[in-house]
Amino acid sequence: MTAISRTQVGIVGAGPAGLLLSHLLALRGIDSIVVENRSRAYCEARQRAGLLEAGTVELLRAVGLGARMDAEGLEHGGIHLQFEGERHHLDFRDLTGGRWVTIYAQTEIVKDLIKARLAAGAAIEFEVSDTEVSALDTDQPVLRFTDSAGTRHVVTCDVIAGCDGFHGISRDVVAAGGHTVWETAYPYAWLGILAEVPPSTDELIYSHHPDGFALHSLRSPAISRLYLQVAPDEDIAQWPDERIWAQLQRRFALPGWKLTEGPVLEKSITPMRSFVSAPMRRGRLFLAGDAAHIVPPTGAKGMNLAVADVRLLSRAFGATTRTSGSTCWSATPSRRPVGCGGPPTSPGG
Ligand code: PHB
Repeated sequence: MTAISRTQVGIVGAGPAGLLLSHLLALRGIDSIVVENRSRAYCEARQRAGLLEAGTVELLRAVGLGARMDAEGLEHGGIHLQFEGERHHLDFRDLTGGRWVTIYAQTEIVKDLIKARLAAGAAIEFEVSDTEVSALDTDQPVLRFTDSAGTRHVVTCDVIAGCDGFHGISRDVVAAGGHTVWETAYPYAWLGILAEVPPSTDELIYSHHPDGFALHSLRSPAISRLYLQVAPDEDIAQWPDERIWAQLQRRFALPGWKLTEGPVLEKSITPMRSFVSAPMRRGRLFLAGDAAHIVPPTGAKGMNLAVADVRLLSRAFGATTRTSGSTCWSATPSRRPVGCGGPPTSPGG
């Protein structure tokens, strides 16, 4: 069976980029559909970033998504840098004229977004398969997918946003149109653990040590997030919990300070890669977030960049829709929509 429908924006991927784009578009009165090949439970559980920059926090508040973040997020006004056996505090507020960071896990933002979108009656299809995008060089690009009940859908859109990450379909489709890639693979990886123990620190500790770098982060007052620099081809099976804690103890050691250990809830190794491809669009398919660029997790930038991408994209889509769509997008890449007025100044703009 095939179901044929129409929407304004087809969004591939229900991570923070796709879901937030759908939310920002709705605030502009623009319809969208979000399709995701994973289940809702998977999207809400996958462990990712946890640090929000002030601009991200301000945007989420401005678009009505700040309630739980403000209640449960932890504001940090700085970090600790440790090297040569000493720990130094860097005061962000002092150094940046009052800016700060907030610890609030990406998984929580995804939960908040899914809840808000579904409450607003938005179309989010989880567990889809065989997602395809086509007719990208026309003014009616088409999104196809099979839903979890087996029905094939053909959705005609004005534009399609590829928010399906580095391994999604959208990046390859754009690449097939010809593009340039800049990529660096770093000669180390991070072994990350989530531990059921209150953080041993008030603010993040970045520690330089002869055995390798270590980072003490957190997800909540009860859950710590810790990282160890390891070789890029490191085998996680070689890292029983005792070995991880022993290395963390060595790399953070400081007289008068104690690292409290606890049960390890999760552990994984993340390779370090920087990647950006341009152009980030092909016809009416636009990439956002990890589909367009990857930064290593060291800087805690990935999700903040994804938020910045869809903020811009929602403004651009808003501008084209206001001026009635079809004549606005040039077929060749350009920095701004051709023939469109200036960006609107509504929430998130
Ligand atoms: C994290 O909590 O996952 C995190 C925090 C700060 C970083 C990198 C990762 O610089």
